[in-house]
Amino acid sequence: MSGQPVPNAPSGPSGPPVPARGPHVACIMDGNGRWAKRRGLPRTAGHTAGEEALAATVRAASARGVGHLTVFGFSTENWVRPPAEVRHILALHRKLFGRIEELNQNNVRVNWIGRPFDEPGSRTPRNVQKGIQEAIDDTKANTGMVLTVAFDYGSRAEITRAARLAAAAGAPSVAAIDRAMYDPSLPPVDVLVRTSGETRISNFMLWQSARARVYFTDVAWPDFGARQLDEALALVVATRA
Ligand code: FPP
Repeated sequence: MSGQPVPNAPSGPSGPPVPARGPHVACIMDGNGRWAKRRGLPRTAGHTAGEEALAATVRAASARGVGHLTVFGFSTENWVRPPAEVRHILALHRKLFGRIEELNQNNVRVNWIGRPFDEPGSRTPRNVQKGIQEAIDDTKANTGMVLTVAFDYGSRAEITRAARLAAAAGAPSVAAIDRAMYDPSLPPVDVLVRTSGETRISNFMLWQSARARVYFTDVAWPDFGARQLDEALALVVATRA
């Protein structure tokens, strides 16, 4: 994607006017397992509830004019979880990517970042690749919020790859590394959200969050709702005021 025009970037003085986009919210959706354990349920039930919470958050964020919502769906480290749990989380990704009607109703465009499928060692199954690609294709005409799912994603791997590509193209610079990120059209993160009482960044969007505000909440991801989203967005408003 490197070298492509950056969608949503402000145009130059002679270019067409580009509507200002709302803030970029990035979420580390933590606490599904603990949410389930507290209820005497299997961990998979927590992930299922987490997918529902994500769908509700997409609707709420879109209604509030959020420009980008980027979520940590599956990390490069998550492959070591028990195979049944991995299968369940992958099936939930296919469920989310299958919500085309709802996404289109909300004018949401689907996007993905992560280890490229054609990179040696990529473990993303074909059916997940297909689900991601179909959701991207079926929502590409939407002009509202961009929902980016980070799948098989790790930020240090992304930065390392970008630095390598930038160095191969000449002297590396911040701008050259920007252009070599998995999706260079993603704007900087305005507010980084982490649920469930953990106050760690866990290798998510490190480069893009260089100037982000951070919102931590004790609420587990399946219970994340409009109230927490509004609290996170209030940090952005406070910064811009
Ligand atoms: C962290 O909870 C969550 C994950 C590793 C997976 C995130 C997946 C979802 C929210 C399901 C739906 C998402 C998409 C994109 C379809 P955890 O298992 O680490 O919880 P714990 O820390 O309480 O054990």
